[in-house]
Amino acid sequence: ELNDQIEKVLDSLKITDDQLEQIMHLLEEEMNAGLSPLTHHQAIVKMFPTYVRNIPNGTEIGQVLALDLGGTNFRVLLIDLRGNSRIELTSKIFLIPQSVMIGDGKRLFRHLAECLHEFMQKERILNTGVCYPIGFTFSFPCQQEGLASARLTAWTKGFDCSGVVNEDVVKLLQDAIDEKRINAKCVALINDTVGTLMACAYKDPSTAIGLILGTGTNACYIENLDKVGTWKGDYNEPKQVIINMEWGAFGDNGRLNLIRTKYDEEVDLSSMNPGKQIFEKMISGMYMGEIVRLIILDLLQQELLFLGHRDTYGDYKTPLYNRGGFYTKFVSTVEIDEGIQFSNTRRVLEDIGIRNPTYDDCAIVRHICRQVSKRAAKLAAAGLAVLINRIGKSNITVGVDGSLYRYHPRFKHNMERCMETLINKSIQFKLTLSDDGSGKGAAMVACLADDSLCKKS
Ligand code: BG6
Ligand code: GLC
Repeated sequence: ELNDQIEKVLDSLKITDDQLEQIMHLLEEEMNAGLSPLTHHQAIVKMFPTYVRNIPNGTEIGQVLALDLGGTNFRVLLIDLRGNSRIELTSKIFLIPQSVMIGDGKRLFRHLAECLHEFMQKERILNTGVCYPIGFTFSFPCQQEGLASARLTAWTKGFDCSGVVNEDVVKLLQDAIDEKRINAKCVALINDTVGTLMACAYKDPSTAIGLILGTGTNACYIENLDKVGTWKGDYNEPKQVIINMEWGAFGDNGRLNLIRTKYDEEVDLSSMNPGKQIFEKMISGMYMGEIVRLIILDLLQQELLFLGHRDTYGDYKTPLYNRGGFYTKFVSTVEIDEGIQFSNTRRVLEDIGIRNPTYDDCAIVRHICRQVSKRAAKLAAAGLAVLINRIGKSNITVGVDGSLYRYHPRFKHNMERCMETLINKSIQFKLTLSDDGSGKGAAMVACLADDSLCKKS
């Protein structure tokens, strides 16, 4: 019932099944390039070996600290692994001011150490004579040479601190901790995808993949060592290692151009890292609301939307006209509206400066949101399907975390529907939401890493 001209604009967001299969094929090629010793230097999808090879089994015991940086919130956690799959946890969220996110790297790590200090003081574990192990969830691309050595290859998601790229992030953190004379040692750095996989595997041994759909998007999975040509560690059992794919960078060499729209190009050009993280920019929460805003603006300029609001056209102060003015959480809110009442959609439109929208206005905005989020779900589904078909076991659980997946009313459903058509029929898969994922996972890795610090039962 929507007008043809609007459909034409939104057609550019549609992805056919053939295109999805083509995308899966391209992704698998990029993965193999990232895993091969001959091509990994130029590879776009980095496929970093993480040095995490053992999966927790619930018997781990120990008290561990965790820092969790890179998502919506920076958190400090104290985690008590009690064995028998029991975990107790206290945590506190701290703010990272925008000026710190794009300031001097030393200042960022000093800030993290100060937050840690404040937290340990509150928990009364400062100056107890015990040296606490720290698991650090640092959700940015890092080349690792061991569990506690990780060079940042590039900032993503709006961070851009100077003096950190190419440096060892564990060392930068440890220096800041030592400077404050805190008795704690960073024994492992992990990506949030790895934390999510670990925390999920703790409860469900079929877990083989960790997926984040939040501010950014990325996945990791358990790969056989014989497929990892770039592996520099030992070949002891288990002959497997978790690979942090950094799939957000898929498309940075133009391979997704067949499905990119002018809105995607605009989002990319006005971002802090133009030309980078192309797949991520079509999927994740940091960009989804902005794509919707650009489509709304385009329809408005073509006089296909908000016709009763010509007076707002000139009002460039309304959020609608400002970058970031349409939050990704609005996409979820709008899509909660099922019928023709549009109570949520009306509220959102009022928030962006459109008073008294018509029924048609609401229906069109909901349609835009649905198309944009469905496209994102399909792309994430295609990525997962590649991994699931490659792993090939009969039962595979995917641990998932992130605000987009958590709060969007239909994301999971849309992904599952799409995955069913792309995954080999012999495989049963399950998407499991992980709670407190990355922090807990970091604690487990720290505990597995350091026998002297944590006893195992
Ligand atoms: C959580 C983590 O698992 O999910 C974060 O603890 C992570 O560190 C996050 O980055 C992803 O979600 P968001 O939506 O906060 O980016
Ligand atoms: C970005 C980061 C990646 C992280 C993802 C999800 O893509 O580069 O490391 O896992 O966001 O937070």
